[in-house]
Amino acid sequence: MPFSIVIGLLSAALGGRVTAQSSALKVVQAELQYSKDLTLAPFVPIIEFAMADQTEKLKGIFDTGSSDIVVPQTSSPICQNEQQQCIIPTKTGFLAGAFYPKKAQGVTTLDVPLNASFVNGAGFQGGYIKTAVAVGGATVPDTQLGLFFNGSLPPETPLFPIFGVGPVQGEAAPRVYPNLVAHMKDIGAIKSNSFSVYTNDFRAGNGSVVFGGVDTTKFTGQLQETRIERSNDGALPSFVIQFSSLKMVMGGARSSVPSPCDGPPRMPAVQDLAPRNGLGFSLLDSGNPGIGIPAASIEIMAKVLRTTFSQRDGLGLVDCNLLNNRSMLTFGFNQDKIKIDMPLDTIVVPARFVKGTGCALPIFPSQDTASLGFPFLQSVYVVFDMDKERLLLAQAKLNVTESNIKEFP
Ligand SMILES: *[C@@H]1O[C@H](CO)[C@@H](O)[C@H](O)[C@H]1NC(C)=O
Ligand SMILES: *[C@@H]1O[C@H](CO)[C@@H](O)[C@H](O)[C@H]1NC(C)=O
Ligand SMILES: *[C@@H]1O[C@H](CO)[C@@H](O)[C@H](O)[C@H]1NC(C)=O
Ligand SMILES: *[C@@H]1O[C@H](CO)[C@@H](O)[C@H](O)[C@H]1NC(C)=O
Ligand SMILES: *[C@@H]1O[C@H](CO)[C@@H](O)[C@H](O)[C@H]1NC(C)=O
Repeated sequence: MPFSIVIGLLSAALGGRVTAQSSALKVVQAELQYSKDLTLAPFVPIIEFAMADQTEKLKGIFDTGSSDIVVPQTSSPICQNEQQQCIIPTKTGFLAGAFYPKKAQGVTTLDVPLNASFVNGAGFQGGYIKTAVAVGGATVPDTQLGLFFNGSLPPETPLFPIFGVGPVQGEAAPRVYPNLVAHMKDIGAIKSNSFSVYTNDFRAGNGSVVFGGVDTTKFTGQLQETRIERSNDGALPSFVIQFSSLKMVMGGARSSVPSPCDGPPRMPAVQDLAPRNGLGFSLLDSGNPGIGIPAASIEIMAKVLRTTFSQRDGLGLVDCNLLNNRSMLTFGFNQDKIKIDMPLDTIVVPARFVKGTGCALPIFPSQDTASLGFPFLQSVYVVFDMDKERLLLAQAKLNVTESNIKEFP
């Protein structure tokens, strides 16, 4: 049975290149990029990679919420879709790319079907191949990945290769196989089945991923550990962790919106946003360009931010003056042994994506499990450690340009 892959809403068009840093260390580092000419949405990290003997770089969504690398096949039905970016660049010149195995050397076609479905409604069908994957200056031979021919996309969602790095049990294949990160460890390119993610502040510049390593300059304090939770059937298909608290802190907020009474607006300093029955669990999903939390939490937020909320329309526009670097959401994980502050100014959707007056926040009601996507990940440095089935988190330092990479563990 193929697993349903959980990733968020795919909607972005971005650009860039991968640079590599090679050294005696057994690590592979690649850049996560954002384009300045985003046509559809911000908050989507792009990783560049190449396949087989081809030099053409593919731009995939770096996705901790799915577990296969899947790439469209050039000239296939899916590449006829009007939302494709296989061979025809978008109006802004962005090309995500596609792969044509008949033109490449060193591709083995496996008799394994691919059927990947995503929470935003996208679904891709095809088959698996084995070939070399070049990423971050390293070339990883004999990597299994999916090539899709056809499928469906939600309206206005561009087609991207997906660079899924989730646990192998979340793969869309009938049988579990070593995906890129597991395979890198198997062949000795890295020492552990692990990688660390620094998305950085999307307003500033590129982030990075270090396979098999950790960059100690990119966070403050100590990395704190929390286990990856198993699903009810005992499987471990995705990066889900215990979500213990959610608070909103309004620091020095001054509203330009007149308050109902004549007095100055009153803000509670700290507001608990946890629903009565708790927060449960959350998925850390870099492919989700939003933050999914319980509707009850967003209702309280809306009151504090003096805006509207409804299940259908989501959170209304907010007075931009309230969204400064001293107003934040504080997320607690693992019985609050981990606390991460997310300043609200880091998640404001750029004005060109917003209709109306005010600031938009990419916060949406979640179904059962919260899904903390890219906007949240900017505030946290995360080591995804599959060998020990745990994540290590620390408050990210934003806009850091130096690096100090160590092997992990
Ligand atoms: C692929 O998966 C979808 C959703 O899980 C399912 O509806 C569909 O029948 C599957 N297709 C094939 C060919 O297995
Ligand atoms: C998907 O593509 C394959 C091969 O091109 C084709 O045989 C199949 O009919 C297609 N399925 C759909 C639903 O278009
Ligand atoms: C990072 O840099 C960007 C662009 O210069 C700036 O807008 C942003 O405020 C900076 N972030 C922090 C946390 O300093
Ligand atoms: C991000 O990466 C791209 C491609 O490597 C590069 O062109 C761009 O300058 C980088 N941005 C920053 C802020 O470093
Ligand atoms: C917060 O914003 C203020 C004013 O924009 C700035 O002076 C200050 O350095 C910022 N603080 C942080 C921690 O980014």
